[in-house]
Amino acid sequence: MQNRRVVSSAVTLRPARAADARQMAAMSRDLIEAGLPWRYHTVHMLRLMADDETIALVAHDHAGVQGFAVMQFGDERAHLVLLGVRPQQQRRGIGHRMVEWLLKSARIAGMASIQLELRADNPGAHRFYLGLGFADVQLLPGYYDGLIAARRMRLLLREPAGGADATG
Ligand SMILES: CC(C)(COP(=O)(O)OP(=O)(O)OC[C@H]1O[C@@H](n2cnc3c(N)ncnc32)[C@H](O)[C@@H]1OP(=O)(O)O)[C@@H](O)C(=O)NCCC(=O)NCCS
Repeated sequence: MQNRRVVSSAVTLRPARAADARQMAAMSRDLIEAGLPWRYHTVHMLRLMADDETIALVAHDHAGVQGFAVMQFGDERAHLVLLGVRPQQQRRGIGHRMVEWLLKSARIAGMASIQLELRADNPGAHRFYLGLGFADVQLLPGYYDGLIAARRMRLLLREPAGGADATG
């Protein structure tokens, strides 16, 4: 953990700007949506970023965007929509730093939980989220275009007001 922090120290986090959308979309296509129809293209990314209920951030250095994350806020639950780090920058703590930023934002916004879906064929990301305290809640066969199953995972931040997170 110590090493990871040192190696990634040249990479800093900031809210995403419109000018980042093209790189974010390309990373989504290549890292997250590989083998599926490209949904989070530049226009979709810009639309997400313009939404008041959405937070988007990038990890960047002198060479450009090295990682990005998008999270949407609901009434009590936030949804981690996208998270990606360029392959040459992975396992240096950047993913953790971005999720920690989002966790802080979710707590400030009073969210009871954070939920996400990830491809069931992505054991590395599954391990990453388990390490952050997320728990498996459901397996969703064919979730991605009928082709690939998803794991739904959730991190409880506090007890939900109506008990919604206890049941799903
Ligand atoms: C998942 C992802 C965002 C993690 O970001 P990261 O910056 O590499 O993660 P960190 O360096 O903060 O954390 C690394 C830890 O996560 C886990 N992990 C991350 N990638 C892993 C992999 N490929 N295999 C096994 N464990 C992995 C490990 O516990 C690892 O710790 P270790 O290196 O000491 O073993 C990044 O690997 C990625 O962009 N993957 C492709 C896109 C993706 O899967 N996005 C998530 C689903 S939307």
